[in-house]
Amino acid sequence: MTNPQLVLTELLQRAMASALGSEHADADPLIRSSQFADFQANVALSLAKRLRRAPRDVAQAIVDHLDFPGTVEVSGPGFINLTLSDEWITEQAETLLTDPRAGVGHSNPPQRIVIDYSAPNAAKEMHVGHLRTTIVGDSLARTFEHLGNEVIRQNHLGDWGTPFGMLIEHLLDVGEPAAIAQLEAGEGSEFYKAARAKFETDPGFQQRARLRVVTLQAEDAETMRLWHVFMDATIRYFNKIYAMLGVTLTDKDIAGESMYNPMLAQTCEDLEKSGHARISDGALCVFPPGFTGSDDQPLPLIIRKSDGGYGYATTDMAAIRYRVRDLGADRILYVVGADQSLHFQMVFAAAREAGWLTDKVSAEHVQIGMMLGKDGRRFRTRSGESVKLNDLLTEAVDRAATAIAERGYDEETQQVIAQAVGMAAVKYADLSVSHDSEYVFDLERMVHFVGNTGPYMQYATTRIKSVFRRADVDPATAKGPIKLGEPAERALALQLLGFGQAVEHTAATAEPHRLCAYLFETATAFTSFYDQCPIILPPPPADVLASRLALCAITLNVLETGLTLLGVPVPERM
Ligand code: ARG
Repeated sequence: MTNPQLVLTELLQRAMASALGSEHADADPLIRSSQFADFQANVALSLAKRLRRAPRDVAQAIVDHLDFPGTVEVSGPGFINLTLSDEWITEQAETLLTDPRAGVGHSNPPQRIVIDYSAPNAAKEMHVGHLRTTIVGDSLARTFEHLGNEVIRQNHLGDWGTPFGMLIEHLLDVGEPAAIAQLEAGEGSEFYKAARAKFETDPGFQQRARLRVVTLQAEDAETMRLWHVFMDATIRYFNKIYAMLGVTLTDKDIAGESMYNPMLAQTCEDLEKSGHARISDGALCVFPPGFTGSDDQPLPLIIRKSDGGYGYATTDMAAIRYRVRDLGADRILYVVGADQSLHFQMVFAAAREAGWLTDKVSAEHVQIGMMLGKDGRRFRTRSGESVKLNDLLTEAVDRAATAIAERGYDEETQQVIAQAVGMAAVKYADLSVSHDSEYVFDLERMVHFVGNTGPYMQYATTRIKSVFRRADVDPATAKGPIKLGEPAERALALQLLGFGQAVEHTAATAEPHRLCAYLFETATAFTSFYDQCPIILPPPPADVLASRLALCAITLNVLETGLTLLGVPVPERM
């Protein structure tokens, strides 16, 4: 364990237990970063109140029992300032050098984690909102896997329901080849609109569409074949977007709404039989405790409409039951728009009532905030349409190409770098703000090479690669020993020790922006080190060079691993 905060927590807890009694062995020592030392522990102030003692006395008592690898002092009203010794930092940093995981541990015990993410709707267009759930979900999946957990990706596609009646009839009208071409090109929403317009104006079409819904629900063979034609073409478009983004979702992760169709009746029956659902105004409803409407009446989660039809909530009840009982999940994450918060709260509460969710299984809604345009409103094109993802991602790549145009790469290399930079820009922008906050989609800012952006993080990484190229050293052979001379070297080494904790904290909270913040701090610490501590020119003495290259090697491993967990590609040069 190299992480200073964790090491300090343990040492302080031991000191608190021997100074104040074993009942304090698990108390949080409240370790924070400090202006005057590496860290400070604030626990004495809160303990003093409870113990009715002076805070400085409590702090001193803890310090007297503290076995700490560095210097300690009580300051101000009762803070404990902690400065680690250079020897300790050096020793820990050297363990990172020989650790390919750079201090990241393994979840113990490993969990089976189901992540529901991306989930675009086939009958509508995949939009920037789905972009964000795709990117955030994918990063979480990678992070959990890296920690040794088993991840089951579930792409809960909107691929079922009454609109498919008119979509299939429209497909027959335009002919399969033309429909396929249109859907593969990402024109699903145009296709939908054309079908909708006919449905509203042409009674014959409307009649056919309604009949088609019936044969679809009955899973009639020819109707299912047409549904597959429609879905396969649509999925080929989604896959194009996934490939462009470099996300890990594949066809085997598709678990769309249609998959639950055969389970809906049973799900309703179970809930009705166990007394958790009852008929209200003709509809079958669950009334999970704690939810009331504006009229103070209990709020229903409708799982079967009065006409016998099933809806979004039914599917989610079937899905959560399946994920617990059939998939054996320990933890289920729903990476979905924040506007669906009430829906998920009710689904989780109902599933708890039904006994499907227990203390052993957690369900969390990872709320995704809305993407805004520069006008502060929901992101749309000028004509009010939502923006086609394909176009948006292409624009990001074009802007990246312009940004690196003057660097003198041949055309092919430039295209490869532009692709990596464009995707990094879009993905990092999504990941670096907390997932539930709204933010303005601004390609110009995202493609910037300075500040907390994807391209900056890539640039910091490629700069280290170029150091190794110029020194003609393979990073794998840079083994130190580490010697901390300059303050910037010490600060960088200390920062690197926190990587494991940053990854684990990101997984525990399901908040990738924490990893981004850590990596940005690391890149910043590296930049100071790079500016203040010469590596190539003027050439430092051999031992200093070996130490600096070792710090470069750890930083490279940390940044590359971290960016990989975010799903941000790292080019060789840029
Ligand atoms: N298709 C839905 C939408 O676009 C998201 C589905 C999320 N997952 C779920 N289990 N409900 O809003």
